[in-house]
Amino acid sequence: MLQYRNNQPYIEGVAVNDIIKTYVTPFYVYSQKTISKTYKELQEALNAEIFYAVKANSNQAIIKLMRSLGAGADVVSIGELKRSLNAGVESQKIIFEGAGKSIEDILFAIEQNIRLINIESLEELNQISSIANSINKQINIGIRLNPNIDSKTSDQISTGKKTDKFGIDIDELANLISSIKHTSNLSLKGISCHIGSQIYNMNIFEKIFNVMKNAAYRFLQEGISIQHLDLGGGIGVQYESTDPILNLEDLKKLIASYFSNVPYTISFEPGRYLIAKAGYLITKIITTKQNGGVNYLIADAGMNTLIRPSLYKATHKIEAINCLSSTKTEYTIAGPICESSDILAKNVVLPQQNRDDYLIIHDAGAYGAVMASNYNSRGLPTEILVNDSSFAVIYKPQTIEENMDQDIIPSWLNSN
Ligand code: LLP
Repeated sequence: MLQYRNNQPYIEGVAVNDIIKTYVTPFYVYSQKTISKTYKELQEALNAEIFYAVKANSNQAIIKLMRSLGAGADVVSIGELKRSLNAGVESQKIIFEGAGKSIEDILFAIEQNIRLINIESLEELNQISSIANSINKQINIGIRLNPNIDSKTSDQISTGKKTDKFGIDIDELANLISSIKHTSNLSLKGISCHIGSQIYNMNIFEKIFNVMKNAAYRFLQEGISIQHLDLGGGIGVQYESTDPILNLEDLKKLIASYFSNVPYTISFEPGRYLIAKAGYLITKIITTKQNGGVNYLIADAGMNTLIRPSLYKATHKIEAINCLSSTKTEYTIAGPICESSDILAKNVVLPQQNRDDYLIIHDAGAYGAVMASNYNSRGLPTEILVNDSSFAVIYKPQTIEENMDQDIIPSWLNSN
């Protein structure tokens, strides 16, 4: 948590100003203590196995930390799988899902002997079955169902409605069960779902639990022993004071009421909840200007550093480090990218800010650094982990020169 001592912001025992003196902005800072505390609270409430959704923040230091807290990994690409293995996650604690896996991806996952490959279509089921045949191996699979539940969050982060591209339509269950019965080289170990992100409402969780418990029952009735029911991620985080706060106690009670007496284990795949609030993005004001009555602060972090505001109209609380002025001004905070949509926040009231002042963007630990890009040939942000009174760089970006070196000029252009 960010706290103030003598009017100076601290993350754990580290003054943000000390990090600013050491590293060039923009950079992300994560608090290890906040991650650990959040993990323990969530684990206590879920009372189930946790597979950390690596997509939220795939830095290997973060994966390693999650592992040390007891998490497995939920991965959606070979890149995330390799990062998780490299960070020391045991292969039997890794689940691989994703709407589009190539044959190479599947073969690699099989070779690594991970816990489950979650199948997302009937075609994929047949494809994995023929791979199993060709290598003469029994393969453990899970099935991701699309339970046709509206997560009632933004359409851009909804994944569990019938028309979304994810999972196998729950109405295909009869077909699916018959196909599974005919594939002797695949062992169905579990079923899963994930209907979207930012769910606060207990009624939505209840719908998920209800549909998935019934689906598990259908499999069991057909003599297919489900060992594992994965109830997805999506646990909501409060970004704005007007967002609801998810009540973990209520979630705990709801889980207990559905699953305390079932013949399989349950698990969850949270990403955002475990890391969002532990991360801050620190950015410097490069210049200030007024255009048509709008007070702009142009910061060195933009949509290339944190794309959520531009892409999803997401809001992140922004604080100023320089709070000396008693004059309050309403600002639009923009990035340096040559796009009108490069706006980090509008209508932010702050003490008057000047060039070279710094801003702290809150709740940036999830889907922040992982979604950063080199757009406009700008560098990626540095990432820093704070632990008590120490801090360390956990991601050092390529320099612009190193990045340029990735381009290859073909010989026919070199001749001129
Ligand atoms: N499992 C699966 C299969 C997922 O697709 C996701 C997220 C999760 C778990 C973790 O969901 P979480 O607990 O983090 O809500 N970039 C967007 C979020 C996209 C989420 C995609 N899937 C954002 O910045 O809001």
